[in-house]
Amino acid sequence: MLKGKKILLGVSGSIAAYKSAALVRLLVKSGASVKVLMTHDAHEFVTPLTLATLSKNPVLTQFKSSESGEWNNHVELALWADYMLMAPATANTIAKMANGLCDNLLLATYLSARCEVFVAPAMDLDMYAHPATQHNLTQLKEHGVILLPVAEGELASGLTGKGRMIEPEEIVERLSQHTLSQSTLKGKKVLVTAGPTYENIDPVRFIGNHSSGKMGFAIAETFARMGAQVTLVTGPTELQTEHEGIKRIDVTSAQEMFDKTVQVFEKCHIAVMSAAVADYTPEKVAVSKIKKSGDELVLKLKKTKDILSYLGSRKKAKQLLVGFALETDHEEENAMKKLHAKNLDFIVLNSLKTKGAGFKHPTNQITILHRNGQKTAYPLKSKYEVAADIVNQLTSLMNG
Ligand code: CTP
Repeated sequence: MLKGKKILLGVSGSIAAYKSAALVRLLVKSGASVKVLMTHDAHEFVTPLTLATLSKNPVLTQFKSSESGEWNNHVELALWADYMLMAPATANTIAKMANGLCDNLLLATYLSARCEVFVAPAMDLDMYAHPATQHNLTQLKEHGVILLPVAEGELASGLTGKGRMIEPEEIVERLSQHTLSQSTLKGKKVLVTAGPTYENIDPVRFIGNHSSGKMGFAIAETFARMGAQVTLVTGPTELQTEHEGIKRIDVTSAQEMFDKTVQVFEKCHIAVMSAAVADYTPEKVAVSKIKKSGDELVLKLKKTKDILSYLGSRKKAKQLLVGFALETDHEEENAMKKLHAKNLDFIVLNSLKTKGAGFKHPTNQITILHRNGQKTAYPLKSKYEVAADIVNQLTSLMNG
């Protein structure tokens, strides 16, 4: 998948820099053209000569080459690349990237890059867990950088934990998967629902739920980054949509979400329904505020339309439809029943049992169940990584 791709590899001063040699080798073997930029400190861990030999290109560290006196133009380098890959990325380089510092050639090139940037962090567990580093990583994500996960295990310090750079094979695999998803999803019309719905009781009160919309927004953004044309139909949320590839439609009630979603579904290739839609709504909405009277108040509710079921009954052969299931008992059995009843291609089972998963959390833990019984259980991850897993599963389905 990386054939013909131009990749700028940024190597900073971590012990994991010794893996850069294998990384360059693998990237070149996959058909990519590779140019390497290093920080001064990275020279202590791997020689520029090794990386220049493997990449078949000069390795650059300074704005002005000491031998030839030539100016290394960071803007030209940045514009040359299809992807920029920071691997390993130290806590220091990540902090500087997050804050726009550019006191070396690598960082100046990063700031000039228009291409997609991937970051593979590498550091000791406490440095990784430090709120400052986590804040910087979040900042990078908000700037559109694609964060690769870190591995868990024995670290150079002798301590064991999270912070190690993932292996070169996994980095290349993730880049290839990204490229595949991009070529599959470019120009595809995708519909995503997100957030809660509010069902009015009277002019000042409603029935709602705790959904934040984070999962659906992460899915919409992941699709948009892959070049898809996304329509995001969302219930009330404070979240913002950053990507220009997302057309956002704000709705309030289950009925409004139904109306907008059905309109868009007709022409879309993929629909992912992650909204927490109210199953019941007040039978009558009081015109004026209901005044307090008596010890009890009984509200009569009627069923809302099940949007997912309706779309499932309308689905054409080439359309892909994905739903979510939130279950507390007989999780997989109930999710499979929903998958068949609603005619889905796969269903994403959310766990409420795992600490840190579900409503309001930035993380989620899912299991994806397919019609043919195929099942993938994922560990607890950030909602952006979960979104990438869902998108990858869809890409695989589309590619047969
Ligand atoms: N859903 C929908 N319209 C509804 C209710 C749910 O489109 N009126 C969708 C959700 O977006 C989700 C899936 O259906 O993708 C599953 O929702 P869930 O609440 O888990 O299941 P229900 O089918 O509503 O069943 P139950 O609440 O009994 O578990």
